Amino acid sequence: MSQNQFDKKSQAWSALFSEPMSDLVKRYTSSVFFDQRLWQADIAGSLAHADMLAAQGIIQAQDLAAIEQGMAQITNEIASGVFEWKLDLEDVHLNIEARLTQLVGDAGKRLHTGRSRNDQVATDVRLWLRGEMDLITGLLTDLQKSLLEVAEKHVEVILPGFTHLQVAQPISFGHHMLAYVEMFSRDAERMREVRQRVNRLPLGAAALAGTSYPLDRERVAKTLAMVNDAGEPQVCQNSLDAVSDRDFAIEFTAAAALCMVHISRLSEELIIWMSQNFGFIKIADRFTTGSSIMPQKKNPDVPELARGKTGRVVGHLMGLITLMKGQPLAYNKDNQEDKEPLFDTVDTLKDTLRIFSEMIGGQINTDTGQKEGGITVNAEAMERAALKGYATATDLADYLVKKGLPFRDAHETVAHAVKAAISHQVDLSELPLAVLQEFNPNIEKDVFDVLSLRGSLNARDILGGTAPRQVRLQIAQHGQRLA
Ligand code: ARG
Repeated sequence: MSQNQFDKKSQAWSALFSEPMSDLVKRYTSSVFFDQRLWQADIAGSLAHADMLAAQGIIQAQDLAAIEQGMAQITNEIASGVFEWKLDLEDVHLNIEARLTQLVGDAGKRLHTGRSRNDQVATDVRLWLRGEMDLITGLLTDLQKSLLEVAEKHVEVILPGFTHLQVAQPISFGHHMLAYVEMFSRDAERMREVRQRVNRLPLGAAALAGTSYPLDRERVAKTLAMVNDAGEPQVCQNSLDAVSDRDFAIEFTAAAALCMVHISRLSEELIIWMSQNFGFIKIADRFTTGSSIMPQKKNPDVPELARGKTGRVVGHLMGLITLMKGQPLAYNKDNQEDKEPLFDTVDTLKDTLRIFSEMIGGQINTDTGQKEGGITVNAEAMERAALKGYATATDLADYLVKKGLPFRDAHETVAHAVKAAISHQVDLSELPLAVLQEFNPNIEKDVFDVLSLRGSLNARDILGGTAPRQVRLQIAQHGQRLA
């Protein structure tokens, strides 16, 4: 036989088929042009399986040696780009196995003993995703560190905090950054939790029912580092479930979608803050683009795209979860459709996290060792905006409460004071003491301490509050956590 026996797909299964697939059906059913990115996981899984087959006496030591040697060559071929991927061979698994058999003969044909592509693909996707999730967790750490650096530099910078996008109360810009650190720290926590369920071994489930060979599944799990924190092997306990459920991929995509939603909220704020009407921040030019018609423009393309790509990842979550809903046990080819959304989710999230770390915190300049190019904060513009919306009205109400007024009455009194300030076009702190005293005779000179932005900020010295003292404590804690 001059050609490998797998070269024609109609021959890959058996002599049972009386006609070859049409080209359209081949194209429709094959996955090799996207699932080839699983190649490293596929080879690692095969090597662990072969090692176990030999240890169990199911294949000979020389078969194992031949498989290892063949896989080493295939690794080189794929890594150097000379490996010839064939559509006719449908997917990554059959392509690699066919090449192995071409290289090492019968030993290659023995590799698939006690295994099916059903447990093979489920193993590959889990192994691949585990590696990507570890990268994502690292990127989440980088992003948190960037935000933390910006927070640290701007603890004392005051901006208006909004509710309903209306000026509400003054807050520290550092505090605002820390809100996102909290969100991304939960995203990292979620990734670590989901990882425990991703990191379980389907191999040994075979096609659906298990296998009659005496496989040592725990050995394979250990070889592939599918172990828990105590080092115990993590093996899927039901063969039907092992080959068919993709809940681990759905869970991951849900965590990724949430993370993108956090990025999207941050994007929205960056976009608002850098509009001329706010002028709170600038982002470095390399994250913006100009307009082809309006020469004055610098558009925040990166945050806008991140906001847009969030929709795409949320869509992948919908796609994956819908993919599962109608499937009877056990494996169905529907599951081949899990890959593109999963791959794109990983790519989109990784790129977005990387670019945000840099856009916010800047990049190390290798000459100076200093970080450069992060966001520039216009503290003056922020403070000016905070002075505009009567942001310390709550503080005046709290002041009156401390003088003995019930809070609801204090609220009403301050509403009158704000009305007066608006009609005079001044801030509350600019109303003369005598005018303030008309609203409540108990108001004294010390009222001006609470009416200042800084007084208002310092007053919120409670765990989780915006007082600079609290913000510094939080920064120190996050710094330790991320060290
Ligand atoms: N390419 C397939 C997938 O992604 C591999 C498993 C195929 N199994 C089968 N019985 N056809 O799911």
